[in-house]
Amino acid sequence: MPNTVLVTGAAGWLGGLLSKALVEDPLTPDVHLILVDIVEPKAPAGSKSVVIKADLSDKPQVDALFKTEFGVPDTIYCLHGVMSRGSEDNFDLGVRINIDSVRLLLEATRQYTRQPPIKFIFTSSLAVYGGPLPEVVTPSTIATPEGAYGMGKLTSELMVNEYTRRGWIDGRILRLPTIVVRPGVPSNATSAFLSGIIREPLKGQEAICPIGNSLDSPELSSLKAWLASPETTIKNFVIAKHVPAEKFLPHTRVVCLPGFTASVKDELDALLKVGGQKALDLVKFKDDPINRRIVSSWPAAFDNTYPLSLGFVVDEGGMEPIVRQFKKDVEAGIA
Ligand SMILES: NC(=O)c1ccc[n+]([C@@H]2O[C@H](COP(=O)([O-])OP(=O)(O)OC[C@H]3O[C@@H](n4cnc5c(N)ncnc54)[C@H](O)[C@@H]3O)[C@@H](O)[C@H]2O)c1
Repeated sequence: MPNTVLVTGAAGWLGGLLSKALVEDPLTPDVHLILVDIVEPKAPAGSKSVVIKADLSDKPQVDALFKTEFGVPDTIYCLHGVMSRGSEDNFDLGVRINIDSVRLLLEATRQYTRQPPIKFIFTSSLAVYGGPLPEVVTPSTIATPEGAYGMGKLTSELMVNEYTRRGWIDGRILRLPTIVVRPGVPSNATSAFLSGIIREPLKGQEAICPIGNSLDSPELSSLKAWLASPETTIKNFVIAKHVPAEKFLPHTRVVCLPGFTASVKDELDALLKVGGQKALDLVKFKDDPINRRIVSSWPAAFDNTYPLSLGFVVDEGGMEPIVRQFKKDVEAGIA
């Protein structure tokens, strides 16, 4: 029996990296990929893939994903979505994609309820948290989002948990840290600058930092973020597929993927070390209160004990190795 994996949002950044990683995963031999996105995804070289351009807010297009030549998938990675600033600025679009289309996919999956159930891996975000938070977020911290993106993710999480409890799917919910450094063009995420202030200067271009008005602004040290590298995140996406179902807490499939805390200043210090003064001088400051409010409402420290006990992995060494890796990617022409 081949391993058949459906990836939604496969033309996106993490979807593209995940598709390649699945092809190379020794624990997923002979993988058959069903790759779907509203923008036509690219299949990894040499892979067995069906590539589908579809709008997942349309039921017939969702139902058709289970009727390809590869048959019914045994694992679904639900990665498609509208990012934080996109959801905040266009509430209706955010609800349609981050909630309604996820429900359509869950309902379509439910039509194929079986034993063992189809694994349904959903990418959520630390944006589900807001309001007064403890110093360190633990698995028992209640999520009260303060933005449309976090609200959408939390709503879908509740459905993934409920469908799991009913035995219709085997859900795995990954609350992601902010992933840095994102290559290419900035995403429509409030946190996009956390990548931009590293990416653009290492490519010899100016970057706007929306926090503070100069390198001396106190906000640079006080605004802390919870981060992970793309390499570690993709490893954890693959691990998520292999965690035995009985290892999760009995009442929830939510896992906050491991990360580390860094301030904007920590990022700029790492940029100075890796890229030198010339790179740092390319960062310009223009305080954006909306951006600052949303990013400040997200927690910046989590207890990694539970995800590490499940076998997930964490970045070691803070920002510097991540910035070094990104510089190598720029030099190699892949960032
Ligand atoms: N990158 C991060 O730092 C981060 C952090 C937390 C959570 N996440 C979550 O991880 C997932 C992947 O993130 P990413 O950074 O790769 O995002 P991305 O924006 O690069 O990819 C999302 C993809 O979803 C697709 N999509 C949007 N609407 C669609 C529709 N109606 N039908 C089909 N496809 C549609 C887009 O075309 C895009 O390719 C998302 O669910 C995101 O919310 C990402």
